[in-house]
Amino acid sequence: MPTDLRARAEQVVQRCQTLARFSEDSGTIRRTFLSAPMRDCHREIAAWLAPLGVTPSVDAVGNLRALCPGATPDAPCLLVGSHLDTVPNAGSFDGILGIVLAVAVLESLHPQKLPFAIDLVAFSEEEGVRFGFPFIGSLALIGRLDASHLAQRDSRGISVREAIEDFGLNPSSLPRAALHPNTRAFLEFHIEQGPVLENLGLPLAVVDAIVGQSRLEFHFSGRANHAGTTPMDLRHDALAAAAEWIVAVEREAQRVPGLVATCGAIHADPGAVNVIPAEVRVSLDIRHASDALRAQALAKLLSFADEISSRRGVSVSHTVLLEQRAVPMNRALCDQAAQAILAAGFTPHRMTSGAGHDAMILAETVPTAMIFLRSPGGISHDPAESVLVSDVEAALACGLKLFEQLSSSGEFLGHNLPSKNNQTRTLRE
Ligand code: GLV
Ligand code: MN
Ligand code: MN
Repeated sequence: MPTDLRARAEQVVQRCQTLARFSEDSGTIRRTFLSAPMRDCHREIAAWLAPLGVTPSVDAVGNLRALCPGATPDAPCLLVGSHLDTVPNAGSFDGILGIVLAVAVLESLHPQKLPFAIDLVAFSEEEGVRFGFPFIGSLALIGRLDASHLAQRDSRGISVREAIEDFGLNPSSLPRAALHPNTRAFLEFHIEQGPVLENLGLPLAVVDAIVGQSRLEFHFSGRANHAGTTPMDLRHDALAAAAEWIVAVEREAQRVPGLVATCGAIHADPGAVNVIPAEVRVSLDIRHASDALRAQALAKLLSFADEISSRRGVSVSHTVLLEQRAVPMNRALCDQAAQAILAAGFTPHRMTSGAGHDAMILAETVPTAMIFLRSPGGISHDPAESVLVSDVEAALACGLKLFEQLSSSGEFLGHNLPSKNNQTRTLRE
Protein backbone atom coordinates (compact mmCIF):
# COMPACT_ATOMS: atom_id res chain seq x y z
CA MET A 1 0.00 0.00 0.00
CA PRO A 2 1.69 3.31 -1.02
CA THR A 3 2.09 5.83 1.78
CA ASP A 4 2.85 9.15 0.12
CA LEU A 5 -0.03 11.02 -1.49
CA ARG A 6 1.49 11.16 -4.99
CA ALA A 7 1.95 7.38 -5.10
CA ARG A 8 -1.55 6.94 -3.73
CA ALA A 9 -2.91 9.28 -6.41
CA GLU A 10 -1.15 7.24 -9.09
CA GLN A 11 -2.70 4.10 -7.64
CA VAL A 12 -6.16 5.74 -7.69
CA VAL A 13 -5.83 6.40 -11.43
CA GLN A 14 -4.58 2.84 -12.05
CA ARG A 15 -7.45 1.39 -10.04
CA CYS A 16 -10.00 3.39 -12.05
CA GLN A 17 -8.39 1.91 -15.18
CA THR A 18 -8.58 -1.57 -13.65
CA LEU A 19 -12.33 -1.19 -13.02
CA ALA A 20 -12.69 0.11 -16.59
CA ARG A 21 -11.74 -3.37 -17.82
CA PHE A 22 -14.98 -4.76 -16.35
CA SER A 23 -17.37 -3.98 -19.17
CA GLU A 24 -20.41 -5.42 -20.97
CA ASP A 25 -18.83 -4.50 -24.31
CA SER A 26 -15.44 -5.64 -25.53
CA GLY A 27 -13.09 -2.78 -26.35
CA THR A 28 -15.28 -0.05 -24.85
CA ILE A 29 -16.70 0.62 -21.39
CA ARG A 30 -20.38 0.02 -20.65
CA ARG A 31 -21.51 -1.10 -17.23
CA THR A 32 -25.21 -0.74 -16.62
CA PHE A 33 -27.36 -1.58 -13.59
CA LEU A 34 -26.64 -5.09 -12.26
CA SER A 35 -24.84 -6.23 -15.38
CA ALA A 36 -22.33 -9.07 -14.92
CA PRO A 37 -19.21 -6.81 -14.77
CA MET A 38 -20.67 -5.11 -11.66
CA ARG A 39 -19.81 -8.31 -9.80
CA ASP A 40 -16.17 -8.05 -10.95
CA CYS A 41 -16.03 -4.48 -9.64
CA HIS A 42 -17.46 -5.60 -6.30
CA ARG A 43 -14.85 -8.37 -6.04
CA GLU A 44 -12.01 -5.99 -6.91
CA ILE A 45 -13.07 -3.29 -4.44
CA ALA A 46 -13.55 -5.92 -1.71
CA ALA A 47 -9.93 -7.03 -2.31
CA TRP A 48 -8.72 -3.42 -1.79
CA LEU A 49 -10.70 -3.16 1.45
CA ALA A 50 -9.59 -6.52 2.90
CA PRO A 51 -6.23 -5.24 4.27
CA LEU A 52 -8.22 -2.57 6.17
CA GLY A 53 -10.20 -5.31 7.89
CA VAL A 54 -13.39 -4.13 6.17
CA THR A 55 -15.75 -6.59 4.50
CA PRO A 56 -18.27 -4.98 2.16
CA SER A 57 -21.76 -6.25 1.46
CA VAL A 58 -24.11 -5.76 -1.48
CA ASP A 59 -27.53 -4.29 -0.63
CA ALA A 60 -30.85 -5.12 -2.30
CA VAL A 61 -30.27 -2.81 -5.30
CA GLY A 62 -26.68 -3.89 -5.80
CA ASN A 63 -24.95 -0.98 -4.05
CA LEU A 64 -21.64 -2.09 -2.55
CA ARG A 65 -21.55 -0.90 1.07
CA ALA A 66 -18.64 -1.00 3.52
CA LEU A 67 -18.88 0.38 7.02
CA CYS A 68 -15.60 1.41 8.66
CA PRO A 69 -16.40 1.80 12.34
CA GLY A 70 -15.61 4.96 14.28
CA ALA A 71 -13.94 5.14 17.67
CA THR A 72 -17.19 4.29 19.48
CA PRO A 73 -20.02 1.92 18.49
CA ASP A 74 -22.65 4.69 18.37
CA ALA A 75 -20.40 7.17 16.52
CA PRO A 76 -22.04 9.40 13.90
CA CYS A 77 -21.55 8.25 10.34
CA LEU A 78 -20.28 9.96 7.19
CA LEU A 79 -21.46 8.42 3.91
CA VAL A 80 -18.85 8.74 1.13
CA GLY A 81 -18.92 7.43 -2.43
CA SER A 82 -20.28 7.69 -5.94
CA HIS A 83 -21.56 5.41 -8.72
CA LEU A 84 -20.12 2.34 -10.47
CA ASP A 85 -22.38 2.29 -13.52
CA THR A 86 -21.45 4.00 -16.77
CA VAL A 87 -22.93 5.32 -19.99
CA PRO A 88 -22.19 3.35 -23.20
CA ASN A 89 -18.72 4.03 -24.66
CA ALA A 90 -17.79 5.64 -21.35
CA GLY A 91 -14.59 6.97 -19.84
CA SER A 92 -12.90 5.47 -16.79
CA PHE A 93 -13.57 8.14 -14.15
CA ASP A 94 -17.19 9.36 -14.08
CA GLY A 95 -18.49 8.10 -10.71
CA ILE A 96 -15.75 5.51 -10.34
CA LEU A 97 -13.15 8.09 -9.27
CA GLY A 98 -15.33 9.13 -6.30
CA ILE A 99 -15.38 5.54 -5.03
CA VAL A 100 -11.70 4.83 -5.60
CA LEU A 101 -10.69 8.15 -4.00
CA ALA A 102 -12.78 7.33 -0.94
CA VAL A 103 -11.02 3.96 -0.63
CA ALA A 104 -7.64 5.77 -0.85
CA VAL A 105 -8.69 8.17 1.94
CA LEU A 106 -9.64 5.16 4.09
CA GLU A 107 -6.26 3.58 3.35
CA SER A 108 -4.48 6.81 4.29
CA LEU A 109 -6.33 6.93 7.61
CA HIS A 110 -5.85 3.24 8.48
CA PRO A 111 -5.47 2.10 11.29
CA GLN A 112 -6.51 5.37 12.94
CA LYS A 113 -10.10 5.44 14.27
CA LEU A 114 -12.00 8.70 13.77
CA PRO A 115 -14.78 9.98 16.04
CA PHE A 116 -17.17 9.11 13.19
CA ALA A 117 -17.79 5.96 11.19
CA ILE A 118 -17.32 6.04 7.41
CA ASP A 119 -19.91 4.31 5.27
CA LEU A 120 -18.41 3.73 1.82
CA VAL A 121 -20.95 3.33 -0.97
CA ALA A 122 -20.50 2.33 -4.61
CA PHE A 123 -23.91 3.01 -6.15
CA SER A 124 -25.17 0.45 -8.64
CA GLU A 125 -27.00 2.93 -10.87
CA GLU A 126 -26.87 6.68 -11.44
CA GLU A 127 -26.84 7.20 -15.21
CA GLY A 128 -30.33 6.04 -16.14
CA VAL A 129 -29.02 4.10 -19.14
CA ARG A 130 -30.70 0.72 -18.64
CA PHE A 131 -34.19 1.78 -17.53
CA GLY A 132 -34.37 5.38 -18.79
CA PHE A 133 -34.54 6.83 -15.27
CA PRO A 134 -31.47 7.44 -13.09
CA PHE A 135 -30.44 7.22 -9.41
CA ILE A 136 -31.72 3.70 -8.64
CA GLY A 137 -28.89 3.17 -6.13
CA SER A 138 -29.27 6.39 -4.18
CA LEU A 139 -33.09 6.36 -4.27
CA ALA A 140 -32.94 3.05 -2.38
CA LEU A 141 -30.84 4.63 0.38
CA ILE A 142 -33.43 7.30 1.10
CA GLY A 143 -36.40 4.90 0.80
CA ARG A 144 -37.71 6.45 -2.40
CA LEU A 145 -37.34 3.48 -4.75
CA ASP A 146 -40.97 2.43 -5.03
CA ALA A 147 -43.15 -0.13 -6.79
CA SER A 148 -43.48 2.04 -9.91
CA HIS A 149 -39.67 2.20 -10.23
CA LEU A 150 -39.42 -1.57 -9.73
CA ALA A 151 -41.95 -2.11 -12.53
CA GLN A 152 -39.99 -0.10 -15.17
CA ARG A 153 -38.64 -2.30 -17.96
CA ASP A 154 -35.43 -2.17 -19.98
CA SER A 155 -35.22 -2.58 -23.77
CA ARG A 156 -35.30 -6.39 -23.37
CA GLY A 157 -38.50 -6.24 -21.30
CA ILE A 158 -36.74 -7.03 -17.99
CA SER A 159 -38.11 -5.06 -15.04
CA VAL A 160 -35.97 -3.48 -12.32
CA ARG A 161 -37.43 -6.06 -9.91
CA GLU A 162 -36.46 -8.93 -12.23
CA ALA A 163 -32.97 -7.48 -12.74
CA ILE A 164 -32.52 -7.41 -8.95
CA GLU A 165 -33.66 -11.04 -8.67
CA ASP A 166 -31.53 -12.13 -11.63
CA PHE A 167 -28.47 -10.72 -9.83
CA GLY A 168 -29.32 -12.96 -6.84
CA LEU A 169 -30.71 -10.14 -4.69
CA ASN A 170 -34.04 -9.89 -2.93
CA PRO A 171 -36.27 -6.85 -3.65
CA SER A 172 -38.14 -7.43 -0.39
CA SER A 173 -34.89 -6.57 1.45
CA LEU A 174 -35.01 -3.04 -0.02
CA PRO A 175 -35.85 -1.37 3.31
CA ARG A 176 -32.54 -2.71 4.65
CA ALA A 177 -30.68 -0.70 1.97
CA ALA A 178 -31.66 2.46 3.88
CA LEU A 179 -29.03 4.86 5.18
CA HIS A 180 -27.25 3.89 8.37
CA PRO A 181 -29.37 5.52 11.11
CA ASN A 182 -26.41 7.56 12.43
CA THR A 183 -25.67 9.11 9.01
CA ARG A 184 -24.90 12.80 9.45
CA ALA A 185 -23.72 13.74 5.99
CA PHE A 186 -22.89 12.57 2.46
CA LEU A 187 -19.72 13.54 0.61
CA GLU A 188 -19.13 12.83 -3.10
CA PHE A 189 -15.92 13.43 -5.04
CA HIS A 190 -16.52 13.58 -8.81
CA ILE A 191 -14.85 14.80 -11.97
CA GLU A 192 -16.30 18.14 -13.10
CA GLN A 193 -17.20 16.80 -16.57
CA GLY A 194 -16.93 20.31 -18.00
CA PRO A 195 -14.36 23.01 -18.83
CA VAL A 196 -14.75 25.47 -15.92
CA LEU A 197 -11.87 24.38 -13.66
CA GLU A 198 -9.52 23.88 -16.58
CA ASN A 199 -10.24 27.42 -17.79
CA LEU A 200 -9.59 28.77 -14.31
CA GLY A 201 -6.39 26.72 -13.94
CA LEU A 202 -7.68 25.19 -10.68
CA PRO A 203 -7.71 21.52 -9.56
CA LEU A 204 -10.76 21.49 -7.27
CA ALA A 205 -14.16 23.10 -6.75
CA VAL A 206 -17.00 22.93 -4.27
CA VAL A 207 -20.44 22.37 -5.78
CA ASP A 208 -23.02 24.82 -4.44
CA ALA A 209 -26.02 23.41 -6.29
CA ILE A 210 -26.99 20.83 -8.91
CA VAL A 211 -29.31 21.86 -11.75
CA GLY A 212 -32.76 20.35 -12.11
CA GLN A 213 -33.55 18.00 -14.96
CA SER A 214 -36.46 16.30 -16.69
CA ARG A 215 -36.17 13.15 -18.76
CA LEU A 216 -38.97 12.11 -21.10
CA GLU A 217 -39.64 9.62 -23.84
CA PHE A 218 -41.62 10.83 -26.88
CA HIS A 219 -43.51 8.47 -29.14
CA PHE A 220 -44.26 9.71 -32.65
CA SER A 221 -46.75 7.47 -34.44
CA GLY A 222 -47.25 7.74 -38.22
CA ARG A 223 -48.09 5.37 -41.05
CA ALA A 224 -45.74 2.78 -42.55
CA ASN A 225 -45.93 2.58 -46.32
CA HIS A 226 -43.91 1.80 -49.42
CA ALA A 227 -40.91 4.13 -49.85
CA GLY A 228 -41.12 3.94 -53.64
CA THR A 229 -44.83 4.32 -54.29
CA THR A 230 -46.02 6.83 -51.68
CA PRO A 231 -45.79 10.42 -52.96
CA MET A 232 -44.08 12.87 -50.60
CA ASP A 233 -47.28 14.85 -49.91
CA LEU A 234 -49.23 11.75 -48.90
CA ARG A 235 -46.88 10.48 -46.19
CA HIS A 236 -47.18 10.37 -42.40
CA ASP A 237 -43.50 9.87 -41.65
CA ALA A 238 -42.95 9.57 -37.88
CA LEU A 239 -39.17 9.89 -38.19
CA ALA A 240 -39.36 13.09 -40.27
CA ALA A 241 -41.72 14.54 -37.63
CA ALA A 242 -39.35 13.53 -34.84
CA ALA A 243 -36.39 14.97 -36.75
CA GLU A 244 -38.12 18.33 -37.25
CA TRP A 245 -38.95 18.39 -33.54
CA ILE A 246 -35.39 17.48 -32.50
CA VAL A 247 -34.06 20.46 -34.44
CA ALA A 248 -36.72 22.68 -32.80
CA VAL A 249 -35.53 21.40 -29.39
CA GLU A 250 -31.96 22.36 -30.22
CA ARG A 251 -32.99 25.80 -31.43
CA GLU A 252 -34.98 26.51 -28.26
CA ALA A 253 -32.07 25.45 -26.03
CA GLN A 254 -29.76 27.72 -28.04
CA ARG A 255 -32.20 30.62 -27.54
CA VAL A 256 -32.72 30.35 -23.75
CA PRO A 257 -29.60 31.22 -21.71
CA GLY A 258 -28.55 28.39 -19.40
CA LEU A 259 -30.94 25.84 -20.94
CA VAL A 260 -29.51 22.54 -22.23
CA ALA A 261 -31.69 20.02 -24.04
CA THR A 262 -30.59 16.77 -25.64
CA CYS A 263 -32.32 14.08 -27.70
CA GLY A 264 -29.74 11.38 -27.11
CA ALA A 265 -31.54 8.17 -28.01
CA ILE A 266 -33.81 7.41 -30.95
CA HIS A 267 -35.42 4.23 -32.19
CA ALA A 268 -37.37 3.97 -35.44
CA ASP A 269 -39.67 1.12 -36.57
CA PRO A 270 -39.94 -0.83 -38.72
CA GLY A 271 -36.38 0.36 -39.47
CA ALA A 272 -36.05 -0.71 -43.07
CA VAL A 273 -34.46 1.26 -45.89
CA ASN A 274 -37.54 1.05 -48.13
CA VAL A 275 -40.32 1.57 -45.56
CA ILE A 276 -41.64 4.91 -44.33
CA PRO A 277 -40.99 4.99 -40.55
CA ALA A 278 -44.19 4.43 -38.59
CA GLU A 279 -43.17 4.45 -34.93
CA VAL A 280 -40.38 6.51 -33.40
CA ARG A 281 -39.26 6.79 -29.80
CA VAL A 282 -37.02 9.72 -28.89
CA SER A 283 -35.56 10.63 -25.52
CA LEU A 284 -35.41 14.18 -24.18
CA ASP A 285 -33.09 15.33 -21.39
CA ILE A 286 -33.66 18.98 -20.43
CA ARG A 287 -31.86 20.90 -17.66
CA HIS A 288 -31.71 24.40 -16.19
CA ALA A 289 -30.57 25.87 -12.87
CA SER A 290 -34.03 27.46 -12.56
CA ASP A 291 -36.85 24.94 -12.17
CA ALA A 292 -39.37 27.55 -13.36
CA LEU A 293 -37.44 28.23 -16.60
CA ARG A 294 -37.00 24.47 -17.18
CA ALA A 295 -40.76 23.94 -16.77
CA GLN A 296 -41.50 26.84 -19.13
CA ALA A 297 -39.10 25.50 -21.76
CA LEU A 298 -40.49 21.98 -21.46
CA ALA A 299 -44.06 23.27 -21.97
CA LYS A 300 -42.86 24.97 -25.15
CA LEU A 301 -41.15 21.80 -26.45
CA LEU A 302 -44.36 19.84 -25.83
CA SER A 303 -46.34 22.37 -27.86
CA PHE A 304 -43.75 22.18 -30.68
CA ALA A 305 -44.20 18.39 -30.74
CA ASP A 306 -47.98 18.77 -30.99
CA GLU A 307 -47.79 21.42 -33.71
CA ILE A 308 -45.25 19.54 -35.85
CA SER A 309 -47.10 16.24 -35.50
CA SER A 310 -50.55 17.57 -36.34
CA ARG A 311 -49.17 19.42 -39.40
CA ARG A 312 -47.68 16.11 -40.60
CA GLY A 313 -50.69 13.90 -39.74
CA VAL A 314 -48.68 12.07 -37.09
CA SER A 315 -49.68 11.57 -33.46
CA VAL A 316 -47.39 12.17 -30.52
CA SER A 317 -47.44 11.19 -26.85
CA HIS A 318 -44.87 11.31 -24.10
CA THR A 319 -43.96 9.65 -20.81
CA VAL A 320 -42.14 11.49 -18.04
CA LEU A 321 -39.29 9.31 -16.72
CA LEU A 322 -37.68 11.80 -14.38
CA GLU A 323 -38.65 15.12 -12.87
CA GLN A 324 -35.82 16.21 -10.62
CA ARG A 325 -35.77 19.72 -9.16
CA ALA A 326 -32.56 21.73 -8.76
CA VAL A 327 -30.93 20.96 -5.43
CA PRO A 328 -28.71 23.17 -3.25
CA MET A 329 -25.90 21.47 -1.39
CA ASN A 330 -25.55 21.95 2.37
CA ARG A 331 -24.01 25.36 2.95
CA ALA A 332 -22.12 24.52 6.16
CA LEU A 333 -20.66 21.33 4.69
CA CYS A 334 -19.71 23.21 1.50
CA ASP A 335 -17.94 25.81 3.65
CA GLN A 336 -16.07 22.98 5.40
CA ALA A 337 -15.09 21.55 1.99
CA ALA A 338 -13.91 24.97 0.78
CA GLN A 339 -11.87 25.38 3.96
CA ALA A 340 -10.31 21.94 3.41
CA ILE A 341 -9.35 22.85 -0.18
CA LEU A 342 -7.73 26.02 1.12
CA ALA A 343 -5.95 24.12 3.90
CA ALA A 344 -4.61 21.69 1.27
CA GLY A 345 -3.06 24.69 -0.50
CA PHE A 346 -5.54 25.34 -3.33
CA THR A 347 -8.12 27.98 -4.23
CA PRO A 348 -11.66 26.70 -3.68
CA HIS A 349 -13.79 27.69 -6.66
CA ARG A 350 -17.56 27.38 -6.08
CA MET A 351 -19.82 26.34 -8.92
CA THR A 352 -23.13 24.83 -10.01
CA SER A 353 -23.14 21.31 -11.47
CA GLY A 354 -24.89 20.86 -14.80
CA ALA A 355 -24.55 17.09 -14.45
CA GLY A 356 -26.86 15.10 -12.21
CA HIS A 357 -25.32 13.29 -9.25
CA ASP A 358 -26.30 10.91 -6.46
CA ALA A 359 -25.63 13.91 -4.19
CA MET A 360 -28.88 15.52 -5.38
CA ILE A 361 -30.86 12.52 -4.13
CA LEU A 362 -29.05 12.17 -0.80
CA ALA A 363 -29.42 15.93 -0.20
CA GLU A 364 -33.14 15.35 0.37
CA THR A 365 -32.31 13.51 3.56
CA VAL A 366 -28.81 14.39 4.79
CA PRO A 367 -26.50 17.39 4.59
CA THR A 368 -24.57 16.81 1.38
CA ALA A 369 -21.50 18.26 -0.33
CA MET A 370 -19.61 17.56 -3.55
CA ILE A 371 -16.03 18.26 -4.52
CA PHE A 372 -15.19 18.45 -8.22
CA LEU A 373 -11.83 17.59 -9.79
CA ARG A 374 -10.78 19.34 -12.99
CA SER A 375 -11.69 17.47 -16.21
CA PRO A 376 -8.87 17.83 -18.78
CA GLY A 377 -10.35 19.15 -22.03
CA GLY A 378 -13.73 19.36 -20.27
CA ILE A 379 -14.44 15.91 -21.72
CA SER A 380 -16.72 13.33 -20.11
CA HIS A 381 -19.15 10.56 -21.14
CA ASP A 382 -16.50 9.64 -23.69
CA PRO A 383 -13.44 7.36 -23.69
CA ALA A 384 -11.22 10.49 -23.74
CA GLU A 385 -12.41 11.38 -20.22
CA SER A 386 -9.37 11.78 -17.94
CA VAL A 387 -8.01 13.22 -14.72
CA LEU A 388 -4.58 14.57 -13.73
CA VAL A 389 -2.64 12.60 -11.10
CA SER A 390 -1.71 15.93 -9.47
CA ASP A 391 -5.43 16.80 -9.15
CA VAL A 392 -6.16 13.41 -7.58
CA GLU A 393 -3.33 14.12 -5.14
CA ALA A 394 -4.93 17.52 -4.39
CA ALA A 395 -8.30 15.83 -3.82
CA LEU A 396 -6.74 13.30 -1.45
CA ALA A 397 -5.06 16.08 0.53
CA CYS A 398 -8.36 17.97 0.65
CA GLY A 399 -10.26 14.84 1.74
CA LEU A 400 -7.83 14.20 4.58
CA LYS A 401 -8.08 17.83 5.73
CA LEU A 402 -11.87 17.66 5.59
CA PHE A 403 -11.97 14.46 7.67
CA GLU A 404 -9.63 16.13 10.18
CA GLN A 405 -11.94 19.18 10.35
CA LEU A 406 -15.05 17.02 10.78
CA SER A 407 -13.30 15.09 13.56
CA SER A 408 -13.33 18.24 15.66
CA SER A 409 -16.60 19.75 14.42
CA GLY A 410 -19.19 19.78 17.20
CA GLU A 411 -21.77 20.66 14.58
CA PHE A 412 -21.04 17.52 12.52
CA LEU A 413 -20.51 15.16 15.45
CA GLY A 414 -23.19 16.41 17.78
CA HIS A 415 -26.50 16.75 15.95
CA ASN A 416 -29.18 14.40 14.79
CA LEU A 417 -30.28 13.79 11.23
CA PRO A 418 -32.61 16.44 9.86
CA SER A 419 -36.07 15.13 9.02
CA LYS A 420 -36.48 13.27 5.74
CA ASN A 421 -37.25 15.26 2.57
CA ASN A 422 -36.45 18.45 4.41
CA GLN A 423 -33.90 20.25 2.27
CA THR A 424 -31.04 21.13 4.55
CA ARG A 425 -29.28 24.45 4.15
CA THR A 426 -26.89 24.04 7.07
CA LEU A 427 -25.61 21.13 9.09
CA ARG A 428 -27.63 22.39 12.03
CA GLU A 429 -31.12 22.71 10.52
C1 GLV B 1 -25.13 11.99 -15.28
O1 GLV B 1 -24.05 11.74 -15.76
C2 GLV B 1 -25.96 12.98 -15.93
O2 GLV B 1 -26.59 12.61 -16.94
O3 GLV B 1 -25.95 14.13 -15.52
MN1 MN C 1 -21.35 10.65 -12.58
MN1 MN D 1 -22.32 10.27 -15.99
